[in-house]
Amino acid sequence: MIFNQRVVQPSAKFAQQANLNKEHHSKLLHSALDNYEKHWAELAQKHIHWKKTFTIPMKWNPPFVEWFVDGELNISEQCLDRHLNGSVANKTALIWEGEPCNGLEPLERKILSYHELHAEVCAFAEGLVRLGVRRGDRVALYMPMIPEAVVAMLACARIGATHTVVFGGFSAESLCDRILDAQAKCVITANGGFRRGKILSLKQAVDKAVAECPCVENVVVVDRLGETGSGNYPKSTTSFSPTQMLTGRDRWYHDVRVAGSSHAAESLPAEHPLFILYTSGTTGKPKGVVHGTAGYALWTNLTCQWVFDIKPDDVYWCTADIGWVTGHSYVVYGPLSTGATVYMYEGAPDFPDFGRFWRCIEREKISIFYTAPTAIRAFMRQGEHWPAKSNLSTLRLLGSVGEPINPEAWEWYHSVIGQSQCPIVDTWWQTETGGVMMSPLPGLTPLKPGSATRPLPGIAVDVVDDAGSPVAKGNRGKLVITKPWPSQLRTVHGDPERYAKTYWSTFAGPAGMQKEPYYFTGDGAFKDHDGDIWVIGRVDDVINVAGHRIGTMEVESALVDHHCVAESAVVGIPDALKGTAVYAFVTLKNEVKQAPDWNDERKHALARELITHVGGIIGSFAKPDHIRFTDSLPKTRSGKIMRRLLRDVATGHESLGDTTTLEDVSVLATLRQSSDDE
Ligand code: WTA
Repeated sequence: MIFNQRVVQPSAKFAQQANLNKEHHSKLLHSALDNYEKHWAELAQKHIHWKKTFTIPMKWNPPFVEWFVDGELNISEQCLDRHLNGSVANKTALIWEGEPCNGLEPLERKILSYHELHAEVCAFAEGLVRLGVRRGDRVALYMPMIPEAVVAMLACARIGATHTVVFGGFSAESLCDRILDAQAKCVITANGGFRRGKILSLKQAVDKAVAECPCVENVVVVDRLGETGSGNYPKSTTSFSPTQMLTGRDRWYHDVRVAGSSHAAESLPAEHPLFILYTSGTTGKPKGVVHGTAGYALWTNLTCQWVFDIKPDDVYWCTADIGWVTGHSYVVYGPLSTGATVYMYEGAPDFPDFGRFWRCIEREKISIFYTAPTAIRAFMRQGEHWPAKSNLSTLRLLGSVGEPINPEAWEWYHSVIGQSQCPIVDTWWQTETGGVMMSPLPGLTPLKPGSATRPLPGIAVDVVDDAGSPVAKGNRGKLVITKPWPSQLRTVHGDPERYAKTYWSTFAGPAGMQKEPYYFTGDGAFKDHDGDIWVIGRVDDVINVAGHRIGTMEVESALVDHHCVAESAVVGIPDALKGTAVYAFVTLKNEVKQAPDWNDERKHALARELITHVGGIIGSFAKPDHIRFTDSLPKTRSGKIMRRLLRDVATGHESLGDTTTLEDVSVLATLRQSSDDE
């Protein structure tokens, strides 16, 4: 256990200026304890731009919750319209930089004030309505990191259509599964996007996916490559094949938008589903996490004020893609609702070299920078000379998200990027939580490299044993949230039983200390002697690869989908760069092994083929790093694959001698007399 960790005390200067000072913080902690519902109701009255105010703060019918039940609002007004009467109207909302065709600087640049962003959202909202998209419909987005992606999300919100953003790195097949599950009526994409000097072929993937999706009536295409001459971007000098537009189904974004429209925002119930975001779980099928409107709007706004300390003059950069929850909450909804200037970059951090991000920070005078440990480790590996070439003195706050940050990476981030002047907010949260749940508060909380420290005011977190009782300090347990909170997921799209089972059945209560069911996060954690929480990582069959959540079962199904594979088991093993690497054990069909051409060369070729196959089915980020062929897989008597044993084998903790055959592994399993619950 990690005790006597280095503690970095908050700087007095920061504390004096922080949005959340000590007094305000302790008031919030107390009010949440005194009267939980009243606490949230007061915050919601104050920080939400209501169209119709609410009278019922909360309805808790475990495990289903509703917040600010009878209120009405529109989150696009929360993010845009309410800023238009004051000084924020002409303030920059979005600074976008795109990778130019030649990859070199200067970058393509676009700036949108709040006023302009509002106009663009209205124009596209009106366009969507004219296409026949209505309140309650689902719209899928498969887009590069361009301003139109933000516009499309807000336009959907404005008309009451529920968006489901699919990360552009997902394959056509994954996209198809998500469109079908959500029954999306419209898909918004682009004819390309630039990343590492290459053009992402998003439209081709959409065509392939939509061919299998009868629910889709329209595909809207942003002309990112400038091929029509009428869009918003210069013509790409990197060659590409002309976009095939299917008559009747496909339309260019610039033709759909209705310039000059002031499309009024729908008045939506507080619980109206704002978005569905698919995330990996313990089964092969990703879950459509559903978020409501008001609770989500409230918490993303408050966390931007409290954790990211966003102030009027900040230039804020969260490097997440909008395809992930971090992009939803902390590129779009949270920061725009605080009237922040948001910087958005289209390309990759390492192209054409590892200095790109630092040059962006210098050029745009970024003051708040939020990224993932995997990126920090990649930068660290390249050396200090890259950031040293740029002036990073405008930075005042750094953030980390997505996986536990190892103390070494934390120290590097703190001293090299933050020049020992910037607090680091290590924010723990999940797709399901909607916003940050635990984090040090800048200027208030002593920082401990590697610990997300404490829950934020109003959030009730604990570390418990399997019976739901809190574990003693220093002991490992499971991380739970003991009270419903405004920005929590409401259900799994189309599958409320799965919602109840996945999140609320492990600690169903009432039992022992538990009066109510607890939300189970899937993470393991411990509390140190100060009561600060250290998240260790997932304790379920989900792995966190370079900050991306992947279900081991998803990779297994993709492998088994290959005609040579009989069975597979996937585990995560520690990786210096990605945090966790994907290690796949594969058993092959007999005819493959018995074929006359089965030799080492064929084996290697097949391993490569399998890796590509997984990339094709899920997306490149899920490709296994290691493939190991075995004759069979170790299983418990009930037929459950013994992943812990496989992890030991994969990390070399179990010596299997020279052979890696199945029999060896099963023998080992028998020797260990493992129980059915692994
Ligand atoms: C992990 C990303 C430790 C955790 C916002 C969680 C973290 C999963 C941290 C959710 C952190 C996220 N420290 N672990 N600061 N942040 N995680 O849904 O395992 O993509 O359950 O949401 O990432 O990943 P998701």
